[in-house]
Amino acid sequence: MKRLLVTGGLGFIGSHFVQMALERGYHVINVDKKTYAARKNLGFESFPHYELIEADICTMTHLPPGVDFVVNFAAESHVDNSITANRVFFESNAYGVYNLLELIRAKNETDRPVFLHISTDEVYGSHMTGECTEDNKIYPSSPYSATKAAADELIYAWYKTYGIKYIICRSCNNYGIGQHPEKLFSKTFDHLFNNKKMTVHGDGSYKREWLYVGDNCDAILTVLEKGKTGEVYNISSKEEHSVVDVVKMIITGMGRKPEEWIEFIPNRFGQDGRYAINCDKVKALGWKPTMTLKQYIPQYAEIYKKTYGSV
Ligand SMILES: NC(=O)c1ccc[n+]([C@@H]2O[C@H](COP(=O)([O-])OP(=O)(O)OC[C@H]3O[C@@H](n4cnc5c(N)ncnc54)[C@H](O)[C@@H]3O)[C@@H](O)[C@H]2O)c1
Repeated sequence: MKRLLVTGGLGFIGSHFVQMALERGYHVINVDKKTYAARKNLGFESFPHYELIEADICTMTHLPPGVDFVVNFAAESHVDNSITANRVFFESNAYGVYNLLELIRAKNETDRPVFLHISTDEVYGSHMTGECTEDNKIYPSSPYSATKAAADELIYAWYKTYGIKYIICRSCNNYGIGQHPEKLFSKTFDHLFNNKKMTVHGDGSYKREWLYVGDNCDAILTVLEKGKTGEVYNISSKEEHSVVDVVKMIITGMGRKPEEWIEFIPNRFGQDGRYAINCDKVKALGWKPTMTLKQYIPQYAEIYKKTYGSV
């Protein structure tokens, strides 16, 4: 049984990954600081091959023995927060990665896990045409994406200088159950449920790619099992929509009129016009996405209705 040390495994994507890894027979040691973004009552304790350590990746002093991979999801993840309070982003997203790399380096070479780091398409910055491959230059715009890019650069340097083995996954925007309501997809449902207009920055024309969280976790496990160390893998559904179009899809899906339920607010500083990534490399490992936003919105609405009574 392979042993994974998963950081941030109580967060949105990390918790789906932990569930999938446990179901596929991995031993999971979950390290999480339990910030405001951590989910509760996930039921992982019912798996005998699960352990939870409440800890901050910035202050951890050692890694447990016999770990095959450190899968690092732990991060501050909300771009708006990074604009108003950026220090903790630098600490968790950059310094935390530095500390994990040093903890791996401190081990005997034969006992060093592979560092599988979860990065983001945002590190490439805005590209109004075409799509970024893994070889594109890193050119971040927000404090969030700058700290994620800093982590990627640290990983390259620790590989070149100290031989630390790594794999980096860069995914696009995820959606699914358990996402904090600060994020666009769940926030739109939350606002509708509370009969509040959904707020959209600027004119909402900036484009993103949208990926079901289960597909992302499956891609990460595919990379873990079949990918090569020393490589970056982009992960995307190639489903590209502007932010305002996603909000409209959800509002329409709920049987309401978009023009009555959207409020446009001033744009975010450093807003990127478009992210688009090429994911042929992960597809060559045999992975492909299974879900689309159009298919998922009614499913999510049903789950929401069951939980809260109506939307
Ligand atoms: N959500 C997306 O659409 C998206 C897209 C691309 C990449 N990512 C990346 O995926 C990862 C997970 O994103 P998410 O949306 O699930 O985040 P999230 O904010 O939902 O969860 C983050 C988790 O990490 C934990 N954490 C934060 N700082 C920590 C620290 N210093 N030490 C230990 N634990 C800490 C939190 O308690 C939380 O459980 C992040 O690295 C993010 O940059 C997210």
